[in-house]
Parts: sequence; C-alpha cells; structure tokens
Amino acid sequence: MTAHEPRPARTVSRRISDHAAVVAIATDPETFSSAVSRHVQVPNGLDGEAHRQARAMLDPFLDAQRVAASTPAFVRVAQQLLEQLAGREAFDAVSELGARYAVRAQSAWLGWPATIEDELLQWVADNRAATRSGDRTRMAGVAKRFDAIVRARVQERMGTDAPDDLTTALVRTRDADGQPLPQEVLVSVLRNWTGGDLASLALCIGVVVAWLTRHPEHAERLAAADDDELDATLDEILRIDDPFLANRRIATRDTEVGGCPIAQGEVVALSWRQANVDPARFPSPYAFDPHGNASDNLVWGIGPHVCPGRPLATLQLRVLTRELLRTGSVRTAEEHGGIERETPPAGGYRRFMAAIERHDA
Ligand code: HEM
Repeated sequence: MTAHEPRPARTVSRRISDHAAVVAIATDPETFSSAVSRHVQVPNGLDGEAHRQARAMLDPFLDAQRVAASTPAFVRVAQQLLEQLAGREAFDAVSELGARYAVRAQSAWLGWPATIEDELLQWVADNRAATRSGDRTRMAGVAKRFDAIVRARVQERMGTDAPDDLTTALVRTRDADGQPLPQEVLVSVLRNWTGGDLASLALCIGVVVAWLTRHPEHAERLAAADDDELDATLDEILRIDDPFLANRRIATRDTEVGGCPIAQGEVVALSWRQANVDPARFPSPYAFDPHGNASDNLVWGIGPHVCPGRPLATLQLRVLTRELLRTGSVRTAEEHGGIERETPPAGGYRRFMAAIERHDA
C-alpha cells in the first residue's frame, strides 16, 4: 500500500469534505496520526520524529534541482510516445499515453530497465482493476507482485557492480545512525515512489488531456507560457478535477473538528477532491483561476505529509504537456471507444479517447 493507493484497510467512519476541516486535520498530526495501516509505510505511515527523520533522509532525492537532471530523458520519452500516437486515428489518453509515459519516465528517473516496461504496465492495469473491485484478496495479490518487482531492483544493486543510478543511491543511503536501510524500508520507499505514482500520474495526464480538448482557446497561450505559468495552469486543472481522491488519518484522542465530534481510534478520510471544490473556500469552484486559487489548492496535500514528489510529478506533467502542445492540437475521439469516468477510490477517467491533429500535417 502506498501514499497514492487509497485502499481501505481500516474502515473509514467519516469522509471529511470541507476545505477548512481537511486543512485542520492534515496540519494537526499529533491528534490525527498517519499510522493507519498495519504495513510498513515509509514515510507516509510514520508520525512525529520518525517521520521527520525519514523525510529529511528521502526528500533530497526528490528535490527540484536534482529531478531537473532527468528533463532530457523525460523529453525523449514524451517525444517518442507522441510521435507514435499522433499517427493514430485515436488513443486512450489514460492507458496508452498516461500509463506508458508514467512507466517510461519513472523508470528513466530510477534507472530501471526498459525490459520491465510491459510487466510494470500490466501491473498498473491489474492494480487499477483490483482497486476498483474492492476485493482485498485480489488487491493483496497485486501488491505482492509489485513487491517482487521492486525487490528484484534492490537485489540487483546489493553487489559492487551495481549501476550508477538513483535506485543504487537509495540502496546505499545510511540512516541517521549510519546504518544501511533495512530491505523492507527500501521496498516501501520504492513502492511509494512508483506503485501508486504510476497510476496517479496516468490519471493526472488523462485529466489534463481532457481539459485541453475542451479548452482549445488556451492552447496558444500555454504553448508560449513559461514554466511557472504552465505549472500554475496544471495545478488548477487538477484542482478542478482532482484524480487523487483521499488519504486517511486515525484520531489519537477524542476531539472535534468544525463542531463534529471525532472519537479516539476513528479513521477519517481527507477528501482532497471534495475540499478542492468546496464552495465555502472557492466561491466559483469550477471557474479556472490559476493564480486566485493557488494558495488554497490541495492537490499535493498540506501539512507535514505534503507530497514530496510534487517537483518530480510537476516536471513530468509539464514536459509531456509542452511536447503535446508542440506536436499538434488534441481533440476528443469519443467515437473510437468512448469516454468513461473512473470510480472511487480512484478519480479522473478510466478511459478518454483522444486524437492529435499534427501542426505539420
Ligand atoms: C502524480 C501526481 C501526484 C499527486 C496528485 C500526489 C498527491 C499526494 C498527496 C495529496 C499526498 C499527501 C498524502 C497525505 O497527506 O497523507 C502525497 C504524499 C506523498 N507523495 Fe505524492 N502525489 C503525486 C506524485 C508523487 C510522486 C511522483 C512521488 C514520488 C516519486 C510522490 C511521493 C509521495 C510520498 C512519498 C508521499 C508521502 C509523504 C509523507 O507521508 O510524508 N508523489 N502525494
């Protein structure tokens, strides 16, 4: 289970959907613990000092400057993929563009071989289906398969002839006491950086493509926008239709939020998606206002568990969007297989058929 896989291991007794309450809970980790799962989850299942230490050790891997070194690799991946898809009558923006780009870009970042691309893609598809089914045994089977993929990558890097890549750097990391990280911690970290993220990124790409097909009037401005402007636009698109639905917390004591009592041991789901369109915070929740809404946008969470992968995910999304805008104009191709929304616990689209009309055609 990862930060990005909202699988219901413990029963959620309440869904918190108003913005003020979500912020209050996410920023009060003493009262609302993140230790909701029985499994090792680093850093997302940790609290207090252990969480701070884990973030201090791991965040540098995801730092904006460090991830920027992967930009040329992401551009290559995006260009190759768009070149193939632009020649097609139609393609699914979630599985054929989103998931494939996510797997290739993330593998490039981690130093994972292209030979496992199909295995990872199959895993993303199976994981989405298992999550949708709500069947715990099926989800556990899929999670076990992913652990095996990750364990093999760690194992390959135990010897002296390990490749010089980010995964090896993680395997060689020492904790605050100078000790190597236990294998189950390495697996949990890599699972967090990949397992859930591949699906989240694919869903984000589906939402961005869908928005571009409906708002062609923004295409020219975005094609010429600088990085900050494009990033602000992407954040706002994802606020309006947040595909990353919720995360859980467990109350450490009897308390109350916004006048509602919450008992010790109660598990609450923080709905980023609903909070992001709460009319009490955003008077016109579906109106596009990147700069006006930025400070209250909860796409990346808030508080001590705020997403450390934001710079990486933003870079990957920005590169793909830029290359897409450069290649042509994107339009819906609903007649070739349709458009279908995803169902909770995932958001966004299950399928969004689109086509690219090349600028140079
Ligand atoms: C693709 C779009 C992404 C979205 C929408 C997203 C969103 C989020 C959100 C809302 C949280 C807060 C969870 C909470 O408070 O319980 C979170 C946490 C986290 N994210 Fe992301 N994320 C994305 C991509 C990434 C990437 C690329 C990585 C790393 C490679 C990553 C790694 C993590 C980790 C490790 C946590 C847990 C942090 C902690 O508990 O301290 N995320 N993410």
